[in-house]
Amino acid sequence: MKYKEIISEIKSVRLYKKEEVDTNLLKELKQFFEQGKRLIDDIEVEVIRKNKDEVYEQLKDSAGYNNRMIEAPHYLIFLSEEKDHYIENAGYRAQDLLLKAWSLGIASCWITFGDGEEIKKKIGINSDKRLVALIALGYEDPQSKVLYEKGKYNTSSNVKVIEDNTSERLGIRDLVFTNEWGEKADPDELVNYGLLEGFFYGILAPSYKNRQPWRFIVDKGTVILALKKDIYVTEYEEKIDTAVIMLYFEAIIESTLSDITWKFEKPEKDYKIPDDYKIAAYCIV
Ligand SMILES: Cc1cc2nc3c(=O)[nH]c(=O)nc-3n(C[C@H](O)[C@H](O)[C@H](O)COP(=O)(O)O)c2cc1C
Repeated sequence: MKYKEIISEIKSVRLYKKEEVDTNLLKELKQFFEQGKRLIDDIEVEVIRKNKDEVYEQLKDSAGYNNRMIEAPHYLIFLSEEKDHYIENAGYRAQDLLLKAWSLGIASCWITFGDGEEIKKKIGINSDKRLVALIALGYEDPQSKVLYEKGKYNTSSNVKVIEDNTSERLGIRDLVFTNEWGEKADPDELVNYGLLEGFFYGILAPSYKNRQPWRFIVDKGTVILALKKDIYVTEYEEKIDTAVIMLYFEAIIESTLSDITWKFEKPEKDYKIPDDYKIAAYCIV
């Protein structure tokens, strides 16, 4: 997949054409999912596709920002076995599928939810697996607008349309440190390590309410991923945010440098992470 190209273009779409997606494209997506990249090998994840009449009315007041459900011709419902890091694994696989969908001309948007068991019941899913992702899918309506802006989304009253139709992003210098917390990374140094592109594209990852909670510390060949803790964010949302940035960074580094493997552990060294952040994972590049 041409990750750089797709990552530069993809955005969350909240207004869809009524028309259903071509069945051959849906088949291609299914195949991609079965063979696609995995964060963890031995976790079974199942994807169920449902149409608007099976989901939209049923979840109208129980999923999405401020319980505002997104109307779409299709929904993808990801179910996973419950094992260590099963949410991150599903988030990683789901986002990879959404990138593939975008490359086929199909738009999407993550839809957050509270009680997964209640959602499953409302849309008639009887499974022991946990609900790990709910995604709107379809062709973008040309009238669709980007609706949420960083820092302006904590109440329903300040949802607004963004004029140039692109969500804001923080810069690399806000997000990447070298050696320890607070030491802003020098882009030239990141180029020398072959990491600049990984961050350049990584920071385009989607996140819950576009909060971009990620911070990185580059310590020679080790890249540490830290995450901001916010009281209004659930553990689920935090883990999906972690997973999508892992996918973006890894996909770009692997296309330019070498394979990397994320470890969900803390490195031994003390990187002086402040109390409102925590280390989510690290990798050796
Ligand atoms: C875990 C997660 C949950 C999200 N939930 C919703 C949602 O319920 N409703 C919505 O409109 N957008 C949702 N989004 C989309 C984000 O708001 C969006 O990715 C972010 O604002 C950045 O915009 P962009 O994807 O267009 O670049 C969610 C994204 C993530 C990663």
